[in-house]
Amino acid sequence: MKILGIESSCDETAASVVEDGRRVLSNVVHTQIDIHARYGGVVPEVAARSHIEVINPVIEQALREAECSWNEIDAIAVTYAPGLVGSLLIGTLAARSFAIIHQKPLYAIHHVEAHVYANFVVEQGAGVKLPTLPATQPLFPMLALIVSGGHSQLVLFNDHGNYQLLGETTDDAVGEAFDKVAKILGLPYPGGPSVAHAAQSGNAHKYPLPKAKTTGVYDFSFSGLKTAVLRSVQREVGVDHTYPSFELPALVSPSLQADMAASFQRIAIETLIDKTEKAFNEFAPKSVVIAGGVAANSELRRQLSLRLPLKVEYAPMQLCTDNAVMIATLAFYQAQSVQPANPFAFEVIPSRSMRDTAWA
Ligand code: KG4
Ligand code: ZN
Repeated sequence: MKILGIESSCDETAASVVEDGRRVLSNVVHTQIDIHARYGGVVPEVAARSHIEVINPVIEQALREAECSWNEIDAIAVTYAPGLVGSLLIGTLAARSFAIIHQKPLYAIHHVEAHVYANFVVEQGAGVKLPTLPATQPLFPMLALIVSGGHSQLVLFNDHGNYQLLGETTDDAVGEAFDKVAKILGLPYPGGPSVAHAAQSGNAHKYPLPKAKTTGVYDFSFSGLKTAVLRSVQREVGVDHTYPSFELPALVSPSLQADMAASFQRIAIETLIDKTEKAFNEFAPKSVVIAGGVAANSELRRQLSLRLPLKVEYAPMQLCTDNAVMIATLAFYQAQSVQPANPFAFEVIPSRSMRDTAWA
């Protein structure tokens, strides 16, 4: 079964063809990073307009690279939640239109759940140039640590579509904390990769930063850590310019950037791994996966592998950040037991957590 996936929930316009929920035939991602970099973050209006411009060419390219005609596509899948409303609307309108014109079943996919499915991709077509993929698909029960710009959560999957949200962030997501710390330190957008890069040459024990305590055992909280970084930077430079400001980052030296980035990254990663390890010990899953943009962080991968007593296989970095491969992959499993959506009456839901989205 060949599924065309479409993703436009934030600042990436993406389309992909995936066969049987395991084999990528094409992976096209148009990123808007350059457009938003000058504003230091995603501007929703600008994002929606960029999606409009590129959505059709991106879909056409995904079909072309998969060497697939519309006749060979068995279904269309699209992100309906969560995300920026204007961005979600563009992808879903395109998907609905094509589903109607070409008479294909349409599947509505939850973006955060889909991030986990980057880990189910184990084969690729000749034209796809991804690095080495995991040798096998994860086994159930599977513990998923989902860490992105909008989400930090631990989810226990008993099977496809049968999952339980163990905990989530009560304030900032961990990717958001990386992005905000980058702004405080004057590192370029997007913050995750630039903080990770600066951290490589820093002393991760230079600044003692706090680990948040949460009421829910598996909940996360990263806003206090970000504030602690701000206070430490203010103390180091001797002025109390607040966040966001242009003055503060201009006073941060490269060594302060590196040491603070490393100290922040150490605590953020330890916090994620502490809770993952605790859930691993309590629920004894057969596999552990990480998903979402922050799962591209090499230090997180290294530390997690050291702490867990089972082998963790990692999806390629390109499939951790937003893409449509994950959308088309999840849709295959969903299609086994869920009725297709009605393309004429289809709603986007900008803020829907995985708390009530299990479907099997
Ligand atoms: O999953 P994603 O592409 O979009 C959302 O669904 O949010 O995640 C984007 C987030 C951003 O906050 C970005 O800074 C972070 O992932 N990120 C990283 C790295 N690469 C991207 N965070 C830490 N280390 C990285 N290498
Ligand atoms: Zn995402």
